[in-house]
Amino acid sequence: MSASLQLTGVVGGYGAVRILHGVDLTAEAGGVTALIGSNGAGKSTTLRTVAGLLPVAEGSITFDGDPIETLPTDQRVDLGVVMVPEGRLIFAEMSVEENLRLGAFTSRARDNTADNLAKINDLFPRLHNRRNQAGGTLSGGEQQMLALGRGLMAEPRVLLLDEPSLGLAPVMAQHIFEIIEELRRTGLTILLAEQDVHRTLEVSDHAYVLESGEIALNGPSAQMINDPGIQEAYLGL
Ligand SMILES: Nc1ncnc2c1ncn2[C@@H]1O[C@H](COP(=O)(O)OP(=O)(O)OP(=O)(O)O)[C@@H](O)[C@H]1O
Ligand SMILES: [Mg+2]
Repeated sequence: MSASLQLTGVVGGYGAVRILHGVDLTAEAGGVTALIGSNGAGKSTTLRTVAGLLPVAEGSITFDGDPIETLPTDQRVDLGVVMVPEGRLIFAEMSVEENLRLGAFTSRARDNTADNLAKINDLFPRLHNRRNQAGGTLSGGEQQMLALGRGLMAEPRVLLLDEPSLGLAPVMAQHIFEIIEELRRTGLTILLAEQDVHRTLEVSDHAYVLESGEIALNGPSAQMINDPGIQEAYLGL
């Protein structure tokens, strides 16, 4: 079900402003791949480029071995490339359940709406209890769960997560990482951009460090967590 994602020499950015200068990265099928790096390194830009919200100027992106870099966003979603953007972007006036149902907009996912809703209710009992509440009245952490749940309603084969723990209280952030671990156990391919480097290395299999739009280093997360350079630069040790 899940699929691999590969970026090769990806150059891109915003119009004439180049941010990515040749990004090489592989998210293995069924694994969690971390994308870490300081503010402005280009993590969100990378995810937006994979999702098709920004064009690829040079290089290629393959999904399950097939090139996708020229496909429009909706076709990438149809294939299963689904992003949960930073900032959540939920619909404040709509109920929790309506927000979730909006995620099921691909024909593939629409047929399974009831099943997927049930799965998401199991994963997020807090959302189930609040299913008739307006999205805008949820707490920050609950809104992040809703954004995640909505992404899952589209039946991703690779899930692009941008800063899911940003701005959350420690307990809620911890819960979000537990959910990511649970999704990892289901074998979903995840590409996770995060500021919380320590937790991100704990929940991921492999990690890439992005610096000024280029991959500076990469390696197994378990190894990176013990790397003195990483500890000094990103873990405050
Ligand atoms: N819409 C935009 N137009 C022009 N430049 C942009 C735009 N959005 C982001 N940038 C620039 O692209 C660079 C990379 O930004 P990006 O958001 O990808 O970084 P990031 O690694 O996700 O950072 P953060 O950790 O703060 O989320 C930054 O210098 C930023 O100013
Ligand atoms: Mg970002």
